[in-house]
Amino acid sequence: MDEAKKRIFSAAQPSGNLTLGNYLGALKNWADLQDDFDCIYCVADLHAITVRQDSAELRRRTLETLALYMACGIDPEKVIFFVQSHVPAHAELAWVLGCNTMFGEMSRMTQFKDKSRSHADNVNVGLFTYPVLMAADILLYQTDLVPVGADQKQHIEIARDIAVRFNNNYSPTFVVPEPYILKSSARIMSLAEPERKMSKSDPNKNASVYILDGKDDIIKKFRRAVTDSEACVAADPARPGVYNLVNIYGAVTGKSEREIEESFKGVGYGAFKDAVGEAVADLLAPVQTRYKDILADRAALDRILAEGAEKAAYIARKTLSKVYRKVGFYQIDKKH
Ligand code: TRP
Repeated sequence: MDEAKKRIFSAAQPSGNLTLGNYLGALKNWADLQDDFDCIYCVADLHAITVRQDSAELRRRTLETLALYMACGIDPEKVIFFVQSHVPAHAELAWVLGCNTMFGEMSRMTQFKDKSRSHADNVNVGLFTYPVLMAADILLYQTDLVPVGADQKQHIEIARDIAVRFNNNYSPTFVVPEPYILKSSARIMSLAEPERKMSKSDPNKNASVYILDGKDDIIKKFRRAVTDSEACVAADPARPGVYNLVNIYGAVTGKSEREIEESFKGVGYGAFKDAVGEAVADLLAPVQTRYKDILADRAALDRILAEGAEKAAYIARKTLSKVYRKVGFYQIDKKH
C-alpha cells in the first residue's frame, strides 16, 4: 500500500435493486477512486439489521451487493473489500465509542428521527446508535476521506466530533476524517416524477432504471419518461423531465450540455429518449455480464472476501488495541 496516498473508507448497505442513480452516484465513484487513493470499502451488514430483515434475503443481498460493486469496477487487487460482520473490531470499537458519545447528540440526528417515523414499530437501540457504529467503521482505519452522498454528511460530522473528543480526553488516537462529497456525481432524478431523486425503493417500477434491467426494459422506461410539451431538448432546470434526461445522457456519454443540445436540435423527444435509452443500455450491458460471472463463481468470491477481511482486520486490530490501552483495559502480557 502506498504511504503517500490518502486513505478512503466507505461502506454501502446490502440492498437489492440498485439503480442507475446509485451507479452514477456511488458505485462508479468507488471504482474511480481506487487508483488515486488507498481505498477500503465494505458492505455494511451490521448497519442493515437496524431495520428488520429477512435473514435469507439479507444473505443473498449481501452477496449480490458485493458482486455488483465488483462488476462496476472495484478491483480487490487494488482495494480492501470486505463484509463488515467479518471484522469483529467494528462492533468492539463501537462499544467504546458509544461510551464517549452523548445521548443528546444521537437524539438530534435527522436520519434517526426520519427512520423512527418510517419504522415506528421497530425503533430499536441499534437504530439510535447507528452513527456510533459508522464512526467506528471510519475511525478504525485512520481514514482521511469518506466519500458519501449528502444524506450521510451529518454522520461524518458526528464521527469527527467523536474522534476529536476521544483524542482530547485520552491522547491523539484517531485521524479526524473529512467528508468527500463528489462534485461530479450526477443527480439522477425519477423518470416518473423528475422533481424527486431516483430511488431504489420507489414502488413505481417505471420511475427507476435498475442496473440489472435488460435492454428492452431500459428503452421502454425511457420512452415513458415524463417530459413536457415544449418538444425541444434543452438543459433547462425549469423543465425537470428533459433536464434529467440531458443529465443522464451527459453522465453516460461524457458529453457537455451544449454538445447535447446541439446534436439534438430539431429532434423530437421520441428520438432523444431512444438515444438516452440506448446509451444507458450500452453502459450497463458489460456490468451485467461481469455481475453474472462473479456470482457464478462463489468460491472465488469467498476467497476475495476472506482475504479482504484478513487485511481489514489487521489494520483495525492495531487501532483497537491502541484504544483499549488508552481507556485502561488490562492487557495480557504474551511474554509470560
Ligand atoms: N450509513 C451508510 C449508508 O447507509 C453506510 C455506511 C456504513 C457508511 N458505514 C459507513 C458510509 C462508513 C461511509 C462510511 O449509506
